[in-house]
Amino acid sequence: MKRVLFLFCCGVILLAVPAMAQNMPKMKEFRIERGMSEQAKACINCHKAENPGLFADWTMSRHASANITCLDCHQADPADKDVIKEHFKQYERSDTQWGRPEYKVPIATAVTPKDCSRCHPDEVKQYARSKHANTNSIVWKIDPWMRKGMNNAAERQSGCLTCHGTALKLDDKGNLDAATWPNVGVGRINMDGSFGSCTSCHTRHRFSVAEARRPQACGQCHLGPDHPQIEIFTESKHGAIYDSFGESYNWDAAPGTWTAGVDYRGPTCASCHMSGTGPVMTTHDVTERLSWELQAPLTVRPQDFKPLPAQNDWKVERDKMKAVCTQCHTNTWVDNHYVKLDKVVANYNDIYFKPAKAMLDELYAKGLITKEGFFDERPEVEFYELWHHEGRRARMGAAMMAPDYAWWHGFYECKHRFNHFREMVEEHLKSGEKFPLWQPYPGSGGDTTPPAALNLQ
Ligand code: HEC
Ligand code: HEC
Ligand code: HEC
Ligand code: HEC
Ligand code: HEC
Ligand code: HEC
Ligand code: HEC
Ligand code: HEC
Repeated sequence: MKRVLFLFCCGVILLAVPAMAQNMPKMKEFRIERGMSEQAKACINCHKAENPGLFADWTMSRHASANITCLDCHQADPADKDVIKEHFKQYERSDTQWGRPEYKVPIATAVTPKDCSRCHPDEVKQYARSKHANTNSIVWKIDPWMRKGMNNAAERQSGCLTCHGTALKLDDKGNLDAATWPNVGVGRINMDGSFGSCTSCHTRHRFSVAEARRPQACGQCHLGPDHPQIEIFTESKHGAIYDSFGESYNWDAAPGTWTAGVDYRGPTCASCHMSGTGPVMTTHDVTERLSWELQAPLTVRPQDFKPLPAQNDWKVERDKMKAVCTQCHTNTWVDNHYVKLDKVVANYNDIYFKPAKAMLDELYAKGLITKEGFFDERPEVEFYELWHHEGRRARMGAAMMAPDYAWWHGFYECKHRFNHFREMVEEHLKSGEKFPLWQPYPGSGGDTTPPAALNLQ
């Protein structure tokens, strides 16, 4: 706040401080530069009264100190599909001096990567090719919950799409449709054709790099039984160091200057996957630096991942990740870590995944389970959990130095699941008895048409 006030202290008008809300300690003073357009001042002043929290957040942002206003991000072309028509009513108000027609501007609520690209083209270009931005297309290509309609709209909206992103649309009144908004999922389908929401990691209206460098920024989505990266991080030595020393890390280092060993002594998710360090450049494409697709049923190289083949070479990407590690470790330490990871990948693929897949295929071939719905027969669910839950935990745990996830939540559970699965399959293969069909499958019947913007029909 001090810096903001300082930057604005020449040529300013002082605003009247509105009556304080009872539970607000004291409204801060904010001086608005004369150089701003009247329309921009109207946004700020009216919203300062309407949403003091939102306003305060903006005043603390780097944007505010660089004189970037509400208009720079929210102003829309009158012909844009996402103009909020209801908002025009704000310019017919007589209860505030800022509600006058001369301040009227068409606005869009969603501020998309395309809007940010005006000033941040590199970040947006990288983001656009990432799996984050393209996740909806991947999900609609491969996921049985969506493809086969095994869950319903309420379950999707409150779960899947909150992390992966909805397809925004307006309702009849010209407001954002309740079935699609609020939403800041990583692959949100925006009405201007762009994908994603930069606020997944940089929440509005601070848009802070410090926030995105913290593991919590990622842990809001990267958690739970099927992708427990935040739990894995917490278990790792790196996480333990973060817990002990995180308070002294220099989170606010200028973008691109956050330096291993100088600004932090243990890496976070962002240090390893996104932030530039040593010879490695910052990236907004999280598939960079990866040499495996550890989340996939059969572990493959990123360029062999069919729904979205990476346009890079895994060996080059692995070297980038290693260059991050060697800011703090020697080559032997890091090379040996990857030897271990590669063995774990082979172990999972050959001992658990391939044999289980062969058994499932045999059940289909012999007609003992049906191909129509997925999850509506026991072997399908058991097989899914083997690769999607414990099989991922084992691989991710090994990749990010968490032995409890690699073994107790990982391979130990794989063995357990595999034995049950094999026993059940062998019984039915022997008897020739079909597996009972769980019908009706609870909550199934979701719309199986992919959003038009994905061009998948
Ligand atoms: C005279 C007051 C006033 C002015 C001027 C004003 N707004 Fe608003 N705006 C509001 C109010 C009140 C709401 C919330 C309405 C509600 O809660 O349903 C709102 C809502 C919004 C929303 C959210 C719309 C939605 O989908 O819910 C955005 C974004 C927004 N304003 C941005 C702006 C921008 C940008 C400007 C300047 C170009 C601006 N406003 C000018 C009063 C104003
Ligand atoms: C750097 C770009 C940027 C600036 C500057 C900016 N906004 Fe936003 N605003 C966003 C983004 C991004 C969102 C979140 C919506 C999304 O994910 O698309 C948002 C959301 C909103 C919302 C809806 C949020 C809610 O909780 O209801 C309102 C209202 C709003 N902005 C008003 C303003 C006002 C008023 C200003 C100026 C004081 C302002 N914005 C400045 C980018 C910006
Ligand atoms: C009109 C130009 C403009 C637009 C539009 C814009 N920004 Fe910025 N942004 C800037 C400038 C200028 C800075 C650098 C300010 C500084 O260095 O003090 C900045 C800085 C940032 C930072 C770094 C903040 C920090 O803590 O160092 C982030 C993150 C950011 N912007 C995100 C966004 C996002 C996300 C959007 C779209 C929702 C967006 N910006 C839209 C101009 C813009
Ligand atoms: C808590 C947030 C969250 C929820 C809820 C969620 N996901 Fe995910 N999903 C993720 C994350 C994070 C990943 C990345 C996993 C990885 O790479 O380790 C992911 C991965 C996936 C993938 C794999 C993509 C690939 O590249 O192979 C699919 C498909 C998917 N999710 C579909 C769904 C569906 C369908 C639902 C709801 C039934 C759902 N997800 C619910 C966060 C979530
Ligand atoms: C998955 C989380 C994530 C998302 C989503 C994300 N960012 Fe970032 N962003 C980061 C991290 C982490 C950094 C810090 C890099 C560093 O340490 O310097 C960063 C830094 C930035 C910076 C500072 C300059 C730089 O490149 O280091 C800008 C500007 C920025 N992001 C804009 C955006 C825009 C625009 C979008 C949407 C297209 C976006 N970010 C989406 C995590 C994210
Ligand atoms: C709003 C939810 C969300 C947030 C926040 C988020 N992610 Fe993700 N992330 C996802 C989803 C969903 C996927 C799966 C995309 C896919 O494969 O379809 C994913 C995938 C990934 C992948 C795998 C890419 C690949 O090629 O397999 C990495 C690595 C990743 N995220 C890192 C991060 C990091 C680091 C952060 C924090 C700086 C972060 N994510 C923040 C939802 C999120
Ligand atoms: C010490 C560095 C490091 C830290 C810290 C770290 N990761 Fe990783 N992460 C890795 C490595 C190494 C891999 C495996 C890379 C490969 O494929 O070669 C990986 C793999 C992943 C994947 C799997 C991508 C896939 O193949 O599906 C995701 C998702 C991911 N990390 C997210 C995160 C998140 C979220 C955090 C923080 C909670 C985090 N990582 C912390 C180094 C790190
Ligand atoms: C910012 C510095 C930093 C970076 C970057 C970093 N580490 Fe570490 N790492 C440490 C420190 C410090 C320790 C604790 C060493 C000890 O036990 O004294 C550690 C511990 C480890 C351990 C030991 C885990 C255990 O439980 O014994 C492994 C393995 C490891 N790191 C691998 C990596 C790999 C692989 C990367 C890159 C993907 C990486 N580290 C990146 C600082 C870092």
